[in-house]
Amino acid sequence: MVNPERFLADLHKLRSFGASGVGKGVVRPAYSDADLAARDWLGAQMRDAGLDVQTDGMGNLFGLAEGRSLLLGSHSDSQPEGGWLDGALGVIAALEVARSSRESGGPPVSVVSFQDEEGRFGVTTGSAVWAGHLKQTDADALTDHTGVSLAHARAGLGRRVTGPVDTGRFTGFIEMHIEQGPTLDSSGDRIGVVTDIVGIRDMRVTFEGEQNHAGTTPMHLRRDAFQALAAFSTGLSDRFRNIVTPQTVWTIGHVSLHPNASSIVPGRVVFSMQWRDAQSDRLARMETVIRALADEIAEARGLTVSFGPMLGLDPVAMDAALRACLEDAAEKEAPGAWRMMPSGALHDATNVAALMPVAMVFVPSIGGISHAFEEDTAEPDLVCGLRVLARAAGLG
Ligand code: GLV
Ligand code: MN
Ligand code: MN
Repeated sequence: MVNPERFLADLHKLRSFGASGVGKGVVRPAYSDADLAARDWLGAQMRDAGLDVQTDGMGNLFGLAEGRSLLLGSHSDSQPEGGWLDGALGVIAALEVARSSRESGGPPVSVVSFQDEEGRFGVTTGSAVWAGHLKQTDADALTDHTGVSLAHARAGLGRRVTGPVDTGRFTGFIEMHIEQGPTLDSSGDRIGVVTDIVGIRDMRVTFEGEQNHAGTTPMHLRRDAFQALAAFSTGLSDRFRNIVTPQTVWTIGHVSLHPNASSIVPGRVVFSMQWRDAQSDRLARMETVIRALADEIAEARGLTVSFGPMLGLDPVAMDAALRACLEDAAEKEAPGAWRMMPSGALHDATNVAALMPVAMVFVPSIGGISHAFEEDTAEPDLVCGLRVLARAAGLG
């Protein structure tokens, strides 16, 4: 049987690495000191649980059961401002299930905490490399928003790296996660069994104009990078109108304006352009609109535009058999209070689905809030999710 008190204590301990000081918030970006310290602690817990601890070249941390086994887990890195449960919940629940299974002579269960799920460098970078979706050499060239390369960041793993972990040793993967949206919180359900995960595209865009004096440069002579971005953002909503559905989303979440000074007409802006949808062809049509509009705006305003590498993951369906295990478990632990639902957030499960059967289980997010310090889930729901995961993994 799983031990809810031990599980909750471990979850709170993991939060202490990079605790933000605001509510239960966490600042634990991939490869930061807090992230590496958290992974060292996690590795020690895995070892104490009798698992063989391995770290691959990306910094993905595995606690391996002997022989072939089910793999459970998620990620323990956070967004630049993140909550205490995003990823952490799936890792600690996996640890508790693997540990209790060993204690009670249950089936072999391995645990993983993938690295850089939150995309400091790419999109679910650690699992993308492990699953062969992204070549290590291509990943190494990716940079974060401050210009640090992944190659440089992962050099900081030092002697933690033990070597590659064979993807063939696992029979399947189940990831437990908070929902990160409002569906379960508003329906009152305690568990979500995921049907599909949406697809994503993400690329950096640069408008280059002319830096000049903000007092002396007449408006009609300006080649203002910020004005170009503003026109692009407004124009995009208009151009997307006949393509998108109410579920389609797009975000300009990071903007770097140069030189970012009150009295200077900005000469350059670099920004992130991200869009998500359940259909690959819609993602492709949106890309065409994005590139065409950016070209048009640059030309009309005397700027140049350039596009960084396009990162992305296609939508995936969850494995029917593993999903059925979660559905049975949900009906036993939360009779009549669970639902099937798609995931609008990205997860490592998408990459792992290329290698083995994969399924996901959600618990509610209070107020539907995530990627924010305010992210939280009621304790009874955390424990309910743990019990569903344990049942699905074969612990009665
Ligand atoms: C994962 O954190 C996502 O951005 O969906
Ligand atoms: Mn996550
Ligand atoms: Mn996240």
